[in-house]
Amino acid sequence: MEPLSQIEVEHVRGSFDRVWAESRRLSDLFYARLFETAPEVRPLFRGDLDEQKQKFLGTLAVIVGSLENAAVLMPAAASLARQHVGYGVEPGHYPVVGEALLWSLERCLGAGWTPETAAAWQRAYAAVTAHMVASAYS
Ligand code: HEM
Repeated sequence: MEPLSQIEVEHVRGSFDRVWAESRRLSDLFYARLFETAPEVRPLFRGDLDEQKQKFLGTLAVIVGSLENAAVLMPAAASLARQHVGYGVEPGHYPVVGEALLWSLERCLGAGWTPETAAAWQRAYAAVTAHMVASAYS
């Protein structure tokens, strides 16, 4: 996959900055959507879901902030993915999570969810998670 362009990185970062003020709503929407579309993953979440929401958002913010810094991003993403194997996460769960994430970003951003922003998020999520799956399952 081609590396993300500067413009794509700006679309992802700019839109994430704009939802940050309502990131609580973003994470509520995300987990609700995930458990609706993939109820089979619900039992994998054994800890406190409010804490999980904060951890997920915090890590997502770090990933978004280091999209241009592959030397930092890729090892961190790989280690996160290996940790996820222990939670019972399977490769096929990554696209489902991506769909729920993009769906909730779209709900939060409204008119700010332009086709360019959507395409940039799709590429960014695909690039990071392809690396995660390759590092953790092969
Ligand atoms: C880019 C993608 C993802 C990010 C940034 C992410 C982030 C995180 C973080 C930060 C944690 C907490 C780890 C800790 O406690 O130290 C976590 C836990 C977890 N994640 Fe993810 N995750 C991602 C993808 C997924 C996917 C695809 C699944 C599949 C369902 C998943 C399911 C879980 C589960 C089950 C836990 C453990 C929750 C618990 O202990 O209750 N994650 N994730």
